[in-house]
Order: sequence, then C-alpha cells, then structure tokens
Amino acid sequence: MDQNALKQAVAEAALQYVPDDAIIGVGTGSTANCFIDALARRRDRIRATVASSDASAARLRSHGIKVVELNQVAEALAVYVDGADEVNLYREMIKGGGGALTREKIVASCAKRFVCIVDESKCVTRLGRFPLPVEVIPMARSALARKLAAMGGDPVWREGVVTDNGNHILDVRNLEIDNPIEMERTITHWPGVVTCGLFALHPADVVLVGGKHGVDVREGSFK
Ligand code: 5RP
Repeated sequence: MDQNALKQAVAEAALQYVPDDAIIGVGTGSTANCFIDALARRRDRIRATVASSDASAARLRSHGIKVVELNQVAEALAVYVDGADEVNLYREMIKGGGGALTREKIVASCAKRFVCIVDESKCVTRLGRFPLPVEVIPMARSALARKLAAMGGDPVWREGVVTDNGNHILDVRNLEIDNPIEMERTITHWPGVVTCGLFALHPADVVLVGGKHGVDVREGSFK
C-alpha cells in the first residue's frame, strides 16, 4: 500500500467519530484533505464545519460542505480531525508542517475530542526528528531565533511563508525534546511566540494509524 492509500484508509476510519448533525473541526494537510474528501459523501449529515486554515475551508466549500467561523459557534465542537507530522505513544504530536499550527491548536481546543489520523511513517518513540514549527510575530523573529538557539535548537526561517494569521514560522531542528509538555509551556510563554507545534499539553484523544495491516486505533492512558 502506498502512503496515499494509508492516508485514505485512516480518513475513512475517522468518519465513524463524526456524529450526525454535529459541528466538527477539520484540520489541514494532505491527510486532512483525504478526510475532507471522505466527508463529502455525507455532507447532508453534517450541520457545519470549522476549518483550521483557509485552504481547508476552500476544499470543504468546494465539496458543498458548510463552513462557519469559530466565532459563530456557541457550543463545543463534537470532534476535531487532523493529521500530524509526528506522534508518540502518549499521543503527543508535532504539527505545523503545513503552517496551520495556531488555528489547528485553537480549533482542537474547542472540540470534545481530537482524532489524529496518520500513516505509520509519522509514529515515533521520541518527538523531534521533524523540525519543530514555531509561529512568531514578524518583529520578534530574530530575537526568538536566538532564544531557540540558546535552547539547543537550529532555527530556520521558513522564508516566503506568511501564515493565515499574517505571521512568520521558524522551523527548529535538533531540539532535545525530553519533556514535550514542559517545552511547549516554555516556548509558548515567550513574548512574540504565537504558538509552537508541540501538541502535548492537550494531546490527541485517539490516534488512527494506517499501516499495511489496516488501521490501528490508539487511545487510553499511557502516563
Ligand atoms: C499542518 C499540519 C498537518 O497536520 C501536518 O503537517 C501533517 O500533514 P500531512 O497530512 O500532509 O502529512 O500540522 O499544519
């Protein structure tokens, strides 16, 4: 099975976490795109969606799926479905390869459940092989790059990329992520950081992993 077929398999499996007549959160990236395409078949059973990026909103609308702003939604979203760049056994993730980390974290935080959909290449025992994306306010970019370097990382400005929020992204290689929760807290508290791509304080509730033997469901407590 090629990687795209695995992404489609987990996207299909995620449909069972989508209740009828609900408002749901939808992520960003190639795996989330597979989910959006699968969701299109049951568009009549969805009340609305909240998208984590302009790109996902456009894809949802192209399928005739209703998209609303988060500010229009007064209730908790039933579920948030999204991919990840890396996920560990504790369901902690690195996200933001597609640059949508801030909206992803916001929409995920408004959902009752985060269902992460990945192919098996994203599963790691230790986070950090994938460079950690950090969304920053443009004027703080160089100062924050120095702070990330002092922490042991090698930050690289994702030049030419402006997020949907009008900000810049630093991709940080070679960080020693011994404690993802602590690192998320530390980086997120620095002035000028909008958010970082660690999703450890609020990890996924369920991870669906697509492999050659089918879709593995990971949930429950490891800590
Ligand atoms: C976008 C993300 C994506 O979920 C992550 O990059 C995975 O993308 P893909 O499914 O294309 O591998 O965090 O900001």
